[in-house]
Amino acid sequence: VIAGDLSMGVTILNVAASLDGYIARPDGDVSWLDAYQAEGEDYGYREFLAGVDAIAMGSRSFEQILSFGAWPYVDIPCSVFTQRDLPVPGDVPAVLWRGSVEAFEAEMERRHARTVWLLGGAALLRSFLRADAVDELRIVVVPILLGAGIALFGTLEKEVPLTLLSTRQYPNGIVELRYATGKSGP
Ligand SMILES: NC(=O)c1ccc[n+]([C@@H]2O[C@H](COP(=O)([O-])OP(=O)(O)OC[C@H]3O[C@@H](n4cnc5c(N)ncnc54)[C@H](OP(=O)(O)O)[C@@H]3O)[C@@H](O)[C@H]2O)c1
Repeated sequence: VIAGDLSMGVTILNVAASLDGYIARPDGDVSWLDAYQAEGEDYGYREFLAGVDAIAMGSRSFEQILSFGAWPYVDIPCSVFTQRDLPVPGDVPAVLWRGSVEAFEAEMERRHARTVWLLGGAALLRSFLRADAVDELRIVVVPILLGAGIALFGTLEKEVPLTLLSTRQYPNGIVELRYATGKSGP
């Protein structure tokens, strides 16, 4: 986003990751997050969600969230990136997005979506980073080494300079890191 261009919204990656950079175990399991969700602290999640106008997610994340039961993002339009013809349950406000990331950005602008939550997973994040379509990264770092799994950041063909916006530390060892993409210089 060019500073001062108020017509455009922001796309924010918001994920939880292990300290060694995994968003899920090798089989996609995220139950290592459960212990932290049970403590009555939501790490700013509800506040973040209240500001979200639209959600973008990859099809594997979509299928996993569906498998958990009731759809958690009731009032937020969701675009599921896929080339497949996935079934979408009638009570889930999601549409399949078969276009490019660039076309998605244009569609979000057309809909005046100010804040888009890039929910993940890693494959979709890579697509968005390649298209320079990520404005912020909010990474909730969980104090665990998973040793293996689905890496949040894989190989990218370019460098992405980041500016640290904030850090927040929780008593249980979770650290929230927020970065803006783009260079401000050290
Ligand atoms: N810890 C967290 O906060 C967090 C957050 C989100 C997800 N996760 C975990 O991440 C895992 C899933 O991540 P993942 O990286 O394996 O998969 P993903 O990004 O959720 O989904 C990948 C799929 O999205 C589609 N896709 C990606 N980029 C696309 C593009 N540019 N255009 C069209 N379609 C595109 C493709 O779907 P098709 O193959 O259908 O064409 C691709 O196979 C799950 O285990 C989930 O639990 C964790």
